[in-house]
Amino acid sequence: MTNESMLPIGQRRDVLQTIGGLTGLALVGSTATVGADDDDSDDSGLVHDATENGRYALPELPYKYGALEPHIDERIMELHHSKHHQGYVDGANSALDAFEEMRSTDEFEDIKAIKRDFSFNFSGHVNHTIFWQNMSPDGGGEPDGEFASALEDQFGSFEAFRNEFSAAAENVESNGWAMLFYEPIADLLVIGQVESQNGLAHQGAIPILTLDVWEHAYYLQYENERASYIKEWWNVVDWTDVCRRYEFLTQTQADEVSEDSADGDETDD
Ligand SMILES: [Fe+2]
Repeated sequence: MTNESMLPIGQRRDVLQTIGGLTGLALVGSTATVGADDDDSDDSGLVHDATENGRYALPELPYKYGALEPHIDERIMELHHSKHHQGYVDGANSALDAFEEMRSTDEFEDIKAIKRDFSFNFSGHVNHTIFWQNMSPDGGGEPDGEFASALEDQFGSFEAFRNEFSAAAENVESNGWAMLFYEPIADLLVIGQVESQNGLAHQGAIPILTLDVWEHAYYLQYENERASYIKEWWNVVDWTDVCRRYEFLTQTQADEVSEDSADGDETDD
């Protein structure tokens, strides 16, 4: 793997800016959007579907609510997507409206509360958008290709990675998430615990696999047995989606390093 920390400061900054600018592409994924069609696909094979007319929009699921049974119950999926995720979308959009109102009236007394609202709800929207796309009725098994090699390099084996990720998920305090991030500065995969929707942040790292362990994600079916839910969830993980995210981010990074090196050679001449 390329280690960006060894690059000159200017080149490292350019790489990080590019990765940051493409984060949205990597986040929104490939489901059909509200009112969008296949022509919205870009060169990455991903589709912008989490926004609409300058506001956030609830993305459609790439499968039916009951498609992940018996591992995740249809009613859980319906409530989770149509009520909980919709709530985060509405909350984020309400915060954007409140920002506009504050600016138009030049009154910022509520700015702290609204900033907190936006951080929570926007993060909830992003987390769930990735979560839906990380799952498939045809999921399960193990990844392959470059992503599988990266897991083996960093964790020793897929099994070791899965054990660590499961432990992270089981031990999230109260409601939150386990996530696998791609961290572009050191070109690493990082397992994180996210409390609530936005706690314990990993600034600059991009989630490529997210597991919701809020009680609303499993309680109707698994009651207080979070570990049982996590064990079943591995059967619906869509490794094709996760691998695509990883390869898109690492390839983008590699292309930028190559271009920067070429630019540097031209300048030297
Ligand atoms: Fe959730």
